[in-house]
Amino acid sequence: KQVALGIDIGGTNTKFGVVNHRGEVLEKGSIRTDAYPTVEEFIDALYEAVYPLIESQGAEKNFDGIGVGAPNANYYSGTIEQAPNLPWKGVIPFGEMMKAKFNMPCTLTNDANAAAYGEMLFGAARGMKDFIMITLGTGVGSGIVASGKLIYGHDGFAGELGHTIVKPGGRKHWSTGSEGSLEAYASATGIAITAKKMRAEFPESMLSQYPEEAINSKTVHECALKGDPISIEVFRYTGQKLGEALANFVMFSSPEAILLFGGVIKAGDFILKPTKLHMERNLLPIFRNKVKLVFSELDEADAAILGASALVWENK
Ligand code: BGC
Ligand code: NA
Repeated sequence: KQVALGIDIGGTNTKFGVVNHRGEVLEKGSIRTDAYPTVEEFIDALYEAVYPLIESQGAEKNFDGIGVGAPNANYYSGTIEQAPNLPWKGVIPFGEMMKAKFNMPCTLTNDANAAAYGEMLFGAARGMKDFIMITLGTGVGSGIVASGKLIYGHDGFAGELGHTIVKPGGRKHWSTGSEGSLEAYASATGIAITAKKMRAEFPESMLSQYPEEAINSKTVHECALKGDPISIEVFRYTGQKLGEALANFVMFSSPEAILLFGGVIKAGDFILKPTKLHMERNLLPIFRNKVKLVFSELDEADAAILGASALVWENK
């Protein structure tokens, strides 16, 4: 046997791929995550979508197992618990359900941890012992690697940096109710909220050319590229909040690098420059100009698929 199935569950899309030991994604595909109100329906749909890939590898017997990266997943128990950005609530024995449906062993970890692991083995973090992966998508996730190991903590949920507070008493999170979390500002969801507010406040912005529901980090990026100052400000403000948070994280674990990953980084320097500025500005001098702030090297979909599938072999 030499292949594994890697699955990356995001708040909006779920990506999957067949991966070999060399870290090559042989085949891949995706389905929507948010189209299935129950986890049972989701797993059924996933099975339908994945089955052709299993067959093309010559059936289940040729797979070592399944590795899944998911929001609010617990590596120790194989559960997904009270995820703020998934449609399924409560405590879900996801690993067990997958094993029963696919008839293969299944390992589960946090999606951002899986992305960090993928970068560590095959991407920008190769050879690094201390780094932090920040994923900027529907939510904000993180994978903290210290002394060469992912931090799982006492009960398996360590690294929820997206829910740390960057603005006390600030924006209320749409699902958790917390006030001023990093996720409420720096996720794709948060950027859309900022952009909609700015658009209402400054009707002269190019953002007014789009209907409300079309305002997202992609359309804001398009307007920023055309020179719209309001759209540029949306990314500047987001970068400020992110940079302030990163300064805290740097002082917490002294990483060699911070890797940024996910759809939001397509905005490039519009977000990277203010992030770096506000990170450096808030660091204690002993940390300044030392920490690399870099974008993920792996294809957006692949880091988490690779990391999740590598867990299958790590556990052997
Ligand atoms: C969840 C994390 C997850 C992140 C990205 C957050 O809302 O709490 O577990 O890693 O979103 O999906
Ligand atoms: Na994590």
